[in-house]
Amino acid sequence: MKAIVVTDQAAGTAGMTLAERPDPDAERLAGLSGANYGDVLVDVHASGFTVDELEWPSTWIDRVGRDRTPSIPGHEVAGVVSALGYGTTGLSVGQRVFGLTDWTRDGTLAEYTVVEARNLAPLPGDVDFVAGAGVAMTGLTAWQGLFEHGRLREGQSVLVHGAAGAVGSMATQLAREAGAYVIGTGRAAGREQALAFGAREFVDLEKDALEDVGGVDLVFDVLGGDVQKRSAGLVRAGGTLVTVTGPPEARPSDGLAIDFVVVSDRAQLGEIARRVRDGRLRTNIGTVATLDDAVAAFNSTGRAKGKTVISVRA
Ligand SMILES: NC(=O)c1ccc[n+]([C@@H]2O[C@H](COP(=O)([O-])OP(=O)(O)OC[C@H]3O[C@@H](n4cnc5c(N)ncnc54)[C@H](OP(=O)(O)O)[C@@H]3O)[C@@H](O)[C@H]2O)c1
Repeated sequence: MKAIVVTDQAAGTAGMTLAERPDPDAERLAGLSGANYGDVLVDVHASGFTVDELEWPSTWIDRVGRDRTPSIPGHEVAGVVSALGYGTTGLSVGQRVFGLTDWTRDGTLAEYTVVEARNLAPLPGDVDFVAGAGVAMTGLTAWQGLFEHGRLREGQSVLVHGAAGAVGSMATQLAREAGAYVIGTGRAAGREQALAFGAREFVDLEKDALEDVGGVDLVFDVLGGDVQKRSAGLVRAGGTLVTVTGPPEARPSDGLAIDFVVVSDRAQLGEIARRVRDGRLRTNIGTVATLDDAVAAFNSTGRAKGKTVISVRA
């Protein structure tokens, strides 16, 4: 099969190459000794990748610390189940699915991927594969940050950093739909988009004073650094700062600071798919490229707007 592989951690996205890799062995997968119980083989139709993956140890070593290069990055997928592994329940061959794959195994920038069935959810027939791959990671990250870790409730206020970005735009829409008052942030160029996604106000982090926001119940941080530190001071008593950028560098004086890594969740994927299908959640997809053009797309010098999705099968 065709796949994007990486072998050199120091090279970043410049080290990505299009290569020929062995097809997953469906027959072996179906046998007792074949693979993890509960795996399925997916024909990848669309795939997503997060640049930070190339810094994660899981891209380079497996769960017992062995070098696993050449590894196939990309952990966001939408496709069709083409074979069931031993012990798999709940999915059928021919089913449209989407979700996130295991960080420590070969991923989705490939024609086929092997993934645990529990990490996939059905993708409705009227949601296209590019949309499915485009919301799997971004939608789940927003959902978990707002509702699981941030415990956001109707009537509360939330400061969403990077509100025009891939994750921030999902958080903005989901929070607004849940009845929260959303203040978005970013650069000036993102203002109109953030407001269109449902932010009531927008703070230009390069020009406006973040401190003028006053108090909020929740901060949803995708930027880290100084912005995160200053945001901790805005959290009201009992509130939370949630970040996806690594261990928090500041904690609200009377609140929580939670860092998390997104996990696949079938029920939440179902909620996200329903919203996309009903038009309540708009995707934020920028570049769509083929697998042949994926390396160039991820090495583009222009600033990516929205999620880059690789359309593997037209
Ligand atoms: N922990 C997890 O589970 C998890 C999951 C998903 C993503 N992430 C991380 O979340 C981060 C965001 O991902 P994403 O896909 O949403 O990225 P993205 O699409 O690039 O969005 C970031 C947004 O923030 C804006 N921004 C960036 N730096 C800024 C600055 N200094 N001042 C003002 N605005 C700024 C960007 O504007 P411009 O486009 O103008 O730069 C963009 O609108 C990444 O670091 C990613 O690795 C973590």
